[in-house]
Amino acid sequence: MKFFVDTADVDAIRELHELGMVDGVTTNPSLIAKSGRDILEVTKEICEMVPGPVSAEVVALDAEAMIAEGRKLAEIAPNIAVKVPLTWDGLKACKVLSEEGNMVNVTLCFSANQALLAAKAGATFISPFIGRLDDLNLDGLQLIADIRQIYDNYGYETQVLAASIRSANHMSDCAKIGADVCTAPPAVIKAMANHVLTDKGLAAFVADAEKAGIKIV
Ligand code: E4P
Repeated sequence: MKFFVDTADVDAIRELHELGMVDGVTTNPSLIAKSGRDILEVTKEICEMVPGPVSAEVVALDAEAMIAEGRKLAEIAPNIAVKVPLTWDGLKACKVLSEEGNMVNVTLCFSANQALLAAKAGATFISPFIGRLDDLNLDGLQLIADIRQIYDNYGYETQVLAASIRSANHMSDCAKIGADVCTAPPAVIKAMANHVLTDKGLAAFVADAEKAGIKIV
């Protein structure tokens, strides 16, 4: 499973990238706003650091304007994936932009039917939002499983990009289901390393090493 990092924080991306944990990056208007930086400038910097797909989201609502914004975003670097919302206009923009040879990430997906439409419109990635469904007592992981099954039934090449990841468990659950990609905030990716028994075991080893005076270098 590929790991994308869901942030526009360049320092956080760099730290994970140096460890080989970053196969791509996703941003959205909220994350760009949080970075306090110009969208074109910060996206270019991210694209120069990470060779994998970097999603940059349009802000227009009608297809024609989305296509114009998508073309401008795609000029930033060859690894841009233009992100469009899962609306009828977004699907039109997806069709045009993907036929022009761009990677397209269709975002704000909350149903299997929406995912089916995105695949038919030529999306490179579909982004179902797990956490926002879970917030409503719905089952985000079941949506990932449903989309996986539908795409596999018909051989759609659109990659399932699980988004709105809120916990480390979401990562392994998505990997078990067979999501192609998970995009998660840096803190969630780092939290995957945590285990209370690791901490407890390490504390015992450190205490024993001190008692025995073990020194290696
Ligand atoms: C990624 O593409 C999405 O924009 C992001 O994962 C949304 O996450 P949130 O629901 O935590 O805002």
